[in-house]
Amino acid sequence: MKQKTKLVTAGRPHKRPQHPVNMPVERASTILFPTYNDYLEGVKTIAYGRLGTSTHRALEEAVTALEGGLETRLAPSGLQACIVAILAFVKSGDHILMVDNVYDPTRKFCQRFLERFQVDVTYFDPLIGEDITSLIRPNTKVIFAESPGSLTFEVQDIPALAKAAHDHGAKLIIDNTWAAGYFLKPISLGADVSVQAATKYIVGHSDCLLGTITSADEETAQKIYYSQLALGTNTSADDAWLALRGLRTLGPRLERHEASGLKLAKWLSKRPEIDTVLHPAFKTCPGHALWKRDFTGSTGLFSVVLKPVPQEAIKAFFDGLSVFGMGFSWGGYESLCIHSKPENNRTATTWDKEGPLLRFHAGLEDVSDLLTDLEKGFTLMAAATKKKNQVDKG
Ligand SMILES: Cc1ncc(COP(=O)(O)O)c(C=O)c1O
Repeated sequence: MKQKTKLVTAGRPHKRPQHPVNMPVERASTILFPTYNDYLEGVKTIAYGRLGTSTHRALEEAVTALEGGLETRLAPSGLQACIVAILAFVKSGDHILMVDNVYDPTRKFCQRFLERFQVDVTYFDPLIGEDITSLIRPNTKVIFAESPGSLTFEVQDIPALAKAAHDHGAKLIIDNTWAAGYFLKPISLGADVSVQAATKYIVGHSDCLLGTITSADEETAQKIYYSQLALGTNTSADDAWLALRGLRTLGPRLERHEASGLKLAKWLSKRPEIDTVLHPAFKTCPGHALWKRDFTGSTGLFSVVLKPVPQEAIKAFFDGLSVFGMGFSWGGYESLCIHSKPENNRTATTWDKEGPLLRFHAGLEDVSDLLTDLEKGFTLMAAATKKKNQVDKG
C-alpha cells in the first residue's frame, strides 16, 4: 500500500459488521475480563487503562505503519516520548551522545536530570557524520539526534550515526518530528527508535499534546515498554483519538505545508532583510545534501537569519503581523512566527550569526495572505529601524 492509503486504513481493525468509520474513544482505568481465561489472555493486550485501550492500540498501529517500525508506544507529550526513549537504555555510570541542536527541553532533561543520576552527556556537532566514532566511549549507550534540528535545521547523517552506534553496542534514537514520519523513515536508515512529538503534524490542530515512540525490533521495543511502565506515563484516550483523527489527513496537509513553506522561503530568500534561509530544501541549509539523499520532501517549518536590526525593529515586525500568530509549537493549520536565540542552547558548536533568527511555520492559509502579512511586517521593521537610527544620531 502507498503511504497515503496506509494513513487512511491503518489502525481500523473493526470486527463488527456495522461500525462507525472512526474508532470510538475508549476511556478506562479498569478493564473487565468475563472469564478467568480471558483474564489470563487479556493482560497481554489490553489490561489496564494506563497501558492503553483499543483507541491507543489503533493509533499505535497506524503510527507503526507510518514509521515502518515493529511497534509504537504512546507518551503524553513529545518531550515525554524523548525521555521514555532515553531512559530505556541508560543507567547510572553510562554515557550518551546528544546532538547540539536538540530541542532545548530535551537538552534540559539531560542537564538537569540525567547528569544528577551520573549519566554523562557529551554534545556533538550535528554535522559530525562518521567522526562521531571519536566521541564514543565503552559506556556509551545512546546516540540521540534530531534531524533536522527544529530551530536551526542542520540535517544529520543517520546511516553514519547508526553504524557508529551499532559498532559499539549503542542505540540510535532519532527525533523525527520535523518530517512527521512522512518524509523521513529513520528506522529504514538504521535508527533503533524514532520518536515524534505527534503534538505537531500528526495532531495537526494545535489542540493536544502527544508523543510516539516507534521501535525497530523486539529487544528495543521491550526496553521501551519497560521504561514506559516504570515511569507510569499515561496518554489520555481522548488525545489518542484526536491524534488518530489528525493522522488520517496527514498526507494532504503535509503536502500543502510543504508547498507553502517552499513559497515563503523562496520569497524570503529574495528579501533585502534576509541574511540566510535555513530550510533543508535550500542549498544554504547545513546538511542539504543529506536531506536530498534521505528525505522525500519538506514540511512547513524553517528559519531565516536576518541581517542585524535593532530590537525595536523586531518588535515592530511582530506587532505588525496579523495572519501569522506568535507562539510556541508548530504543525497546526495556522501559520506561526517566533524570534529565537540559538546561541543560548549550544555547547559543542557556536552560533555566530549576527542577526536575529526568525522561525516560521507555514500553515494552511492562502499563501498570498501570508506574503502580504510579511510585507507589512517588513515595512514596519524598516520604519522602526529608520526611527532608531535617527534617534541614535541625535
Ligand atoms: C523537535 C521537537 N521534539 C520534541 C518536542 C516536544 O513536544 P511536546 O511539546 O509535545 O512535549 C518539540 C516541541 O516543540 C519539538 O519541536
